[in-house]
Formats: sequence, C-alpha cells, structure tokens
Amino acid sequence: MVVGAQWGDEGKGKIVDLLAQQSDVVCRYQGGPNAGHTIIVDGQTFKIRQTPSGVISGRVSVIGAGCVLDPEVFLTEVDELAERGVDTSVIVLSGNAHLIMPWHVAIDQASERRLGNLQIGTTRRGIGPAYADKASRIGIRVQDLLDPKILRQKIAVALAEKNVWLEKVYEVEPFELEAVSSMYVAFAERLAPFVADTSLLVDRALREGKDVLFEGAQGTLLDLDHGTYPFVTSSNPIASGAATGIGIGPTRIDRVLGVAKAYVTRVGEGPLPSEIEGADQDRVRTLGKEFGTVTGRERRCGWLDLVALRYAVRVNGITSLALTKLDVLSAFSEVPVCVRYRLRDGTETGDFPPHQSDFHHAEPVWQVLPGWSEPLEEAGSLAGLPPNARAYVEFVADQLEVPIELVGVGAAREHVLAGT
Ligand code: IMP
Repeated sequence: MVVGAQWGDEGKGKIVDLLAQQSDVVCRYQGGPNAGHTIIVDGQTFKIRQTPSGVISGRVSVIGAGCVLDPEVFLTEVDELAERGVDTSVIVLSGNAHLIMPWHVAIDQASERRLGNLQIGTTRRGIGPAYADKASRIGIRVQDLLDPKILRQKIAVALAEKNVWLEKVYEVEPFELEAVSSMYVAFAERLAPFVADTSLLVDRALREGKDVLFEGAQGTLLDLDHGTYPFVTSSNPIASGAATGIGIGPTRIDRVLGVAKAYVTRVGEGPLPSEIEGADQDRVRTLGKEFGTVTGRERRCGWLDLVALRYAVRVNGITSLALTKLDVLSAFSEVPVCVRYRLRDGTETGDFPPHQSDFHHAEPVWQVLPGWSEPLEEAGSLAGLPPNARAYVEFVADQLEVPIELVGVGAAREHVLAGT
C-alpha cells in the first residue's frame, strides 16, 4: 500500500511506478481526476489522473468502488495512453464507482466562486459534489450506464433538483436532459468493456499469492475524516481507505509505504505551519517545479514538518517511508526541519493537535540541519549519499521511528535510491 503522507503531490506516481514492476495488480481506491500522477519512463512523461499508475507498466489496473470517475477525462486518458503505445485493456473499473456528472463540475466551480475568501481551493473537477451525492444516495454509478433506461431516469431525477440549484442558487446555466443523456449513453458504450467485479478480482489475486499494490491519491492531511478539515478532499486517502474503497478486509494489507517529500507543499487553502518565509520559498518552488499537475496552480512550500509526518505514520500505520525530491534541498547551506509545534499557550508538542484552532495557530519549532552541495543524482544507493544528505535522511527516520526505504533524488525511475 502506497499512501501520501502529507498534503498530496508527494511523488507517489513515481514510487508506485517503481513498485508496479514487482506487482501483478495496481489499484486506485479513492479520489478521481483531482489526482495528477506524473511518471517519467525512458524520457517520456506521463501525467495520469484517473487510471492507476501501474497501467504504464502493463499491470492489471483497478479503479475501485471508492473512486469517482469522470467518463470524459477517463476516456480521453485511455485514448492518449493507447496512442502512446500503452496497453489499456488491463484497466478494470468497478460498477460501484460513482460517476462525476456535468452538474458536479458546475456546482464545484460555482460553489467555490460563491465562497470567495472562504473557498477550499478545490481542483474544481466535481469531486466534492459527486461524493456528496453518493453519501446522500442520489449518485449515479458506473453500473447505471449499463442500462440506458435506468440511466436516463436517474439523470432526469437528478436534473430536476440540480437545475434548480444551478439556476436559482448559483445563477448559472442549467443542463438539458437530452444532451446529458445522449452524452452518457455514448460514454456507456465505451466504458462497458472495462467494468468488472473488482472486489472479487482483487480477492482472487490475493488468494493466488499475487502481489497487489494499492495506490493512494491525494494525501493523509487531505483525508476527509483525519485531514485538516474543511481544507480536505471528499474521500479517504489514508491506508484504511484502501480496504473500503476496493472491498477487501483490512487484514489483507501487510505493508504501508508512506511517501513524503523531503520538504512539504500544499495547494489550495488551509494552514501550513512550516511554510517557508522569504525568497527561499520561491527557490524551493522553482527547483522542485512545484506547480499543480491538474490545475497548474503554484504550490505553497514549507520545510519538512515532522509533527504532521508523525501523525501520518500513526493514522496510516506506515511501516516504511519513501522520501522524495531530496535533490531539491541540495541548493541550501542549512535545512530547517519543524520538530515540534508551539501552541498558543506556549507549550510545545510533537503530536498533531486534535483541535483545528490549535493547528491553525501552531508555530513551528525548528531544528536546523547542515546542508550539502554535492549533486545527488549519481549517489547510486542510500549509502552513496553525501554525508550531510544521509544524516538528514537518518534524522527523519530516527525522529519518526520508521525506516526510510527509498529516497528520490531526481525525476526518473533510476533516481529512486534504495539499499543502505
Ligand atoms: P478536491 O479534491 O478537488 O475537492 O479539492 C480539495 C482539496 O484537496 C484542495 O485543497 C485541493 O487542492 C486538494 N487536492 C485534491 N487533489 C489533490 C492532489 O492530487 N494533490 C494535491 N492536492 C490535492
């Protein structure tokens, strides 16, 4: 199981791609096209949003029941992958996954506009409204596409309500039943071959002793229940979300690899206690190319936050870590790390504050580690890292009491270092 240990964008795609080489099945269990996983193979860059990263390596690629699917985004992605020679027949899609409908996107956009200063900063892909309808039990699922009569009926029922909201509350254009129905009927024809009983498929693979990899999207602090609510996504990226999102028991997950950047980034609104002050933030952003894969937005950058990472270790049951983008820090003579938070009452804590106001006002307590200036790309293995870079990695592992298994020092597959 590979899970984002921060606010998303930790470089999970690359790690999943690497681990996919030793896996038979790769599964996405939550989220939708709000994700943007970048994978670079043989100099070719793939940016995928709906499909598990394992597709690039030809692994069976499962989109589980806990995901939300935008058929247009998905089919465009499938076509683009096929054009570039990727075998898309390995993709399987749960009939229980919910569909993102055009009104979800329209409502996401309109509601963010309406919130103004209070906006969440969503990716505006309709994620929240689609999950809200799922919870309200008025969502439309992939399996509904397989019966045109039911599909039309469900679209009609939804539109009767959504159009009122769109016109009267958000003052935007309503949708027409005929147009939406015929668009989704056309999608249905193309989606039908991908639909399968994904819970059964994964269970069988596990029983046969195959290696199954679960690919989290977004990150721990964007988790709907355990993240920095309300500045979160609408699903459960944390490790246990894989069991619900795929339909397997939690006892089937035996290893949880947390992926964290060697620093932190956040897109969208919400507090970021270790945010870097001054020009260094721009330096990290430029060196780390910290601009959103999906939205192109600038990511806010901070030094590594061990309080938040310790929390991620806890809520995911992380058994080892991958630390990505260590090379970005090579430009700094000193590297601060947030080791504790100072709370409003002056006390210090190493544990993530359970109350949002404490978190919103938390001040970082820094420990400054010496930097390194040697390039890392040629290190070859963890043991080959320059001494100060190695000391940085060891410091993080000691503080978290979790081994660091992999370290990313560049964009390509071969730039992920392993071994001691
Ligand atoms: P939503 O998932 O589009 O509803 O957005 C909710 C919050 O999650 C916003 O702060 C987004 O910026 C953030 N978010 C969603 N997906 C990603 C991702 O893949 N990486 C980083 N942040 C994300």
